[in-house]
Amino acid sequence: MPTQMNSEATLPPGPKGHFVVGSLPMLADNVLATLENWAREYGDIFFYRAAGLRVCYPTHPDYIEDILVTRNHNFVKGMGARVNPRFFGQGLLTSEGELWRRQRRLMQPAFHRRQIGRYAKVMVECTQKMLSRWRAGEVRDLYSEMGHVTLQITARVLFNLDFTDHVERIEATARAFHARTARGPALVCAMRYLPTPTNLRYLWTIGRLEKVVYRIIRDRQVSGRAGDDLLSMLLQARDEHGQAMSDRQVRDELMTLIGAGIDTTTLALSYVWYALARHPAVEARLMTEIDSVLGDRPPELEDLPRLIYAEKVIKEAMRLYPPVWAFVREAIEALGIGGYRLPARTNFVLCPWIVHRDPRFYEQPHEFRPERWTEEFERQLPRFAYFPFGGGQRTCIGASFAKMQTSLMLATMAQRFRFSLKPGFKLKLLPTITLQPKHGISVVVQDRLPKDRGNFPLNCSAFEPLCWTR
Ligand code: HEM
Repeated sequence: MPTQMNSEATLPPGPKGHFVVGSLPMLADNVLATLENWAREYGDIFFYRAAGLRVCYPTHPDYIEDILVTRNHNFVKGMGARVNPRFFGQGLLTSEGELWRRQRRLMQPAFHRRQIGRYAKVMVECTQKMLSRWRAGEVRDLYSEMGHVTLQITARVLFNLDFTDHVERIEATARAFHARTARGPALVCAMRYLPTPTNLRYLWTIGRLEKVVYRIIRDRQVSGRAGDDLLSMLLQARDEHGQAMSDRQVRDELMTLIGAGIDTTTLALSYVWYALARHPAVEARLMTEIDSVLGDRPPELEDLPRLIYAEKVIKEAMRLYPPVWAFVREAIEALGIGGYRLPARTNFVLCPWIVHRDPRFYEQPHEFRPERWTEEFERQLPRFAYFPFGGGQRTCIGASFAKMQTSLMLATMAQRFRFSLKPGFKLKLLPTITLQPKHGISVVVQDRLPKDRGNFPLNCSAFEPLCWTR
């Protein structure tokens, strides 16, 4: 671990001791492994320069807590908010200061545990509808399938709408979005005004999606129909001067929820199933729990506290494959951290991917072991050794929603089917703004006949090597 103090004006040398393009991890052949190796080699804090920006990775949980909680007033989203302004606008994810505070206050009640509990039924029904179309023996891309259902659920519960007609637009936007962010935030920021094909496609797909969102807003305004969904809350909200939110602000919040909520939850569930397909003993234990708690009836909200092992499985999958693998803060003023003095405008990348795999906190960190999540283990784990939903005042507003949906969908699916990886399938991870499975997650659907329950054959794909690529 570096120990020297450095002057405010200079940065200590980063990996390989230079700040040229060669030290940009997002250009490495294997971004995730490169970052993890740097953390193990250079200690709790390391640095590099990227496209003229100073980038610092604090990888100790205490430093992360310092940035997100203790000294959060000294940080803004900075580069993180400038990567996709055309998509998110001034929505909750990217806004700052008074605007953020007002919008968070306004939207928080819609995500309250009691409020979202009402949506459990919709989540289960949408999942069952998907399953009713599946047949044993089919090959399916779980990432894409989970994406469709999550989109339907989000649209139904937040906007009381059926999004079936808009799936294509949303998927096209997501593809363009990830293609653009695959080179990392520093390069995206540097190149954001250039008319590259990637940028043009990104702008075009956003324009198409935005049209749909504005139409939804207009239809609701014209109909005057007031529901108790989030869209109605946004339209009815008034500030202290009696002013309603502008259409533009409502658009930004809707686009933010679509952008921040759907892909992340889709990824969480996809990686749960990927991990289960590779670990038949864990899968068998999970199925046993689900069978004994639910029998053949569909899961309900009240069942979740009893699905204890399922919760551990989800936690462990989100440790190994955090959907938001990294996010950024920019320092407003110079600060000291980890024995270094860093100037204002330094970008801090907070990286669950690295911290969640730190052997100081997780024994055999690369292994999928849901059993590790005992009460005792959680008690001694530093607070920010596990932070898939971020932390502090900007913690994910949709965390309870996502956890409930993931648990209910997992239980509903596990009652009906199990999945083995398609022969020859290897996971390739693509770290864009989220942790994408580059080629989806290809599985073979297998019936869970009653006679099979609790008696699963050994799955050879459990021993396939994992292949990390950019
Ligand atoms: C497994 C699923 C999810 C994961 C892993 C996840 C992860 C995160 C993380 C790490 C942050 C913090 C980003 C930062 O501090 O810069 C965040 C913020 C946020 N998330 Fe999530 N999220 C998930 C689901 C959702 C859902 C379902 C919604 C809404 C429908 C949502 C909406 C948001 C919003 C609006 C913010 C910004 C909050 C603020 O700054 O006040 N997320 N999420």
